[in-house]
Amino acid sequence: MNMNNQSIFIIVFFFSLLLVTSSTYVEIKQLVPTTFTVNKVNSSKIIVGVSWDGTNEADDEYVVGRLNCFSNAVTILNSPQDHVFGDHNTTYELAVHKTDVLVKCRTGKVDIVNWKNVFYFRT
Ligand SMILES: *[C@@H]1O[C@H](CO)[C@@H](O)[C@H](O)[C@H]1NC(C)=O
Ligand SMILES: *[C@@H]1O[C@H](CO)[C@@H](O)[C@H](O)[C@H]1NC(C)=O
Repeated sequence: MNMNNQSIFIIVFFFSLLLVTSSTYVEIKQLVPTTFTVNKVNSSKIIVGVSWDGTNEADDEYVVGRLNCFSNAVTILNSPQDHVFGDHNTTYELAVHKTDVLVKCRTGKVDIVNWKNVFYFRT
């Protein structure tokens, strides 16, 4: 082996190490919220919409949707909810008891990973 062949061998060997290293990265699986919408239907009803996306989630992956609001100005009528990842969004119905109140709500999805997001709106 002359000098040149040896350095090529070393470079190729080094590259193959890099490939082995990079191939050990593990695929992640995650579900992330995308948009929140708050729609005032009338003085006594609000519809909250939550959309989600993700990576490496099967469309039939089971997901529990939850919404909590930290106020007695509203009551959530349909939480928790059963979903699959492929639904991509849901809506929650809120009964409004007091208007012009700033309400803090937290929504979350539970699958392998769990996320919680806080948002505010005025009734
Ligand atoms: C508000 O809208 C809901 C659903 O559309 C309806 O059932 C309810 O009677 C309405 N309330 C008022 C005060 O208009
Ligand atoms: C909800 O998801 C469905 C697909 O599952 C899509 O067709 C629809 O546009 C979405 N709606 C919103 C408000 O994002």
